Amino acid sequence: MRTDRISKDASKFRKPPNMDDYRSLYRDFSWDAAKSLLSLFPDGSYNIAREALDRHALGKNAEKIAICWLGIEGERRTITYRDLKHQADRFAGALQSLKMDIGDRVFLLLDRIPELYSAFFGALEAGCVVCPLFSAFGPDPIATRLELGEGALLVTTEDQYTSKIEKIRDRLPELKHILLVGENGPTNVKNTYDYHTQLQKQPELFETMPMLADDPALLHFTSGTTGKPKGALHAHHAVLAHTATGKYALDLHEDDIFWCTADPGWVTGISYGIIAPLSNGVTMIVDQADFEIERWYEIIQKEKVTVWYTSPTALRMMMKAGAAAARACDLSSLRLIFSVGEPLNPEAVVWGLEAFGLPIHDTWWQTETGAIMISNYASQEIRPGSMGLPFPGVNVRLIRRSGEKLEFIDKIGEEGEIAIQAGWPSMFRTYINSAEKYRGCFQNGWYFTGDLAKRDADGYFWFVGRSDDVIKSSGHLIGPFEVESAMMEHPAVAEAAVIGKPDEMAGQIVKAFLSLRKGFDASPVLKEEIYAFGRKRLGAVAPREIDFMDSLPKTRSGKIMRRLLKARELGLPEGDTSTLEASR
Ligand code: WT7
Repeated sequence: MRTDRISKDASKFRKPPNMDDYRSLYRDFSWDAAKSLLSLFPDGSYNIAREALDRHALGKNAEKIAICWLGIEGERRTITYRDLKHQADRFAGALQSLKMDIGDRVFLLLDRIPELYSAFFGALEAGCVVCPLFSAFGPDPIATRLELGEGALLVTTEDQYTSKIEKIRDRLPELKHILLVGENGPTNVKNTYDYHTQLQKQPELFETMPMLADDPALLHFTSGTTGKPKGALHAHHAVLAHTATGKYALDLHEDDIFWCTADPGWVTGISYGIIAPLSNGVTMIVDQADFEIERWYEIIQKEKVTVWYTSPTALRMMMKAGAAAARACDLSSLRLIFSVGEPLNPEAVVWGLEAFGLPIHDTWWQTETGAIMISNYASQEIRPGSMGLPFPGVNVRLIRRSGEKLEFIDKIGEEGEIAIQAGWPSMFRTYINSAEKYRGCFQNGWYFTGDLAKRDADGYFWFVGRSDDVIKSSGHLIGPFEVESAMMEHPAVAEAAVIGKPDEMAGQIVKAFLSLRKGFDASPVLKEEIYAFGRKRLGAVAPREIDFMDSLPKTRSGKIMRRLLKARELGLPEGDTSTLEASR
């Protein structure tokens, strides 16, 4: 079988794709016309909650299942659009009774439990800005983000509270209130309330606040190579892109059962794990448990999932377990599979055919872009290894920046940085803690993504790599600086440098090179202790590998040369080492 092209046979489509002709939709599309996909307020005001929740809960979809929730213990709960709306309304009421204002930041530190979804929408209804945190973060990354984001209210569980929040609360003067989801009921701790008690006190109805398209709605932290995590702020306008990409990229139809496996602690889990499917009025699956191959196949089979959005790491692990495991289940409900977050190996795209009878559709985007920008589409031929074609309304070019000059790369197969013409609805509006870094991403009306790619003769984009040292582990973006800072707080650690080490499954793993302070011995016992220290501070983003070194390679100006460590680790040429400080 020829596998460098996977063509689509229109006679075999289970459903006619919403976008049957890519070229003509791309040509004719305008974001203004796409507003017809929304139910804006009569005066044209926006609210993400209105589009994803209200219009269904208060319309013909009221009794339709919005969320089919699967608990760790095997529980199964169905939540209709109306149920979700009532809970969200009560949460919005609770925010008002706590005097939370429009624009105040509501942080969510929850695993995938139903309360997460009610709080998410309630906060938006009340005009607050929602900032989801990954619940597997340790106390350090959580504190950093709450502090930078000036979180005014936090929703979390009793367990997370006692294990992580209690000890950092003193450092967070802006954090006025905490709502706790748990069994223990009301607490005596100041400014800390039981979530359910607080919600029960509220009226069942809340009028969603009309917001301007540009009013802030979502805050997603992301990592760069240097400095603290960056808070990418998104506006209510983003819902236009979520809705349109849900319809034309993920091809969502009303009767789909959609499952996005990403956690809402990351942007995919919000844009496509909540907003896009609900805005398109479908039923979505939420699984509380972590990845497990048999469990996932069982969910697809039992719940008859039709459209599935997952990650290259998960697909690679399934591939390793073999196609037979997939074929042992009845996964015939599936009609489309998508992937995002890191490069998707061409073998994985093709393996989809063997295991599921369907190819995997790669999609490309970033926290900053808020929604899918490049994608493989239901109706379009797939070229395994390619990220696909730009989404309608999105102008993507490859550009080389040299100072003030922009060089547009039009030559087929030549490498350039992916740049997107500014102005699409889900474009981030700032980095809250670094307006300068934000400005640095733009030039002459183009947003520069930091990703390098090539283009083929038909306009398909092919990922080449990133232009920075940021780490991608299981699809999660991890800033080396944040990990290094935490490691350096261990009393034995003098210097730390952290790199992404290639890993067959996770794409990369976090590897730390450490030099020790005088008086400490590089013993296996100490290494174990430092591993544990990392996990305690950082949680899931802690180093998985540690090497001790006498001293770390530095430039003459004293900067640690991560690139050199990485080249040595990978056995690659060391490149220009002329600035390397003579080792002591
Ligand atoms: C970075 C953005 C987009 C939601 C999840 C990640 C990498 C993303 C692909 C892909 C190769 C990809 C890029 C990008 N990336 N999708 N299909 N092929 N690389 O959002 O955490 O902001 O990460 O993930 O390097 O810049 P994020």
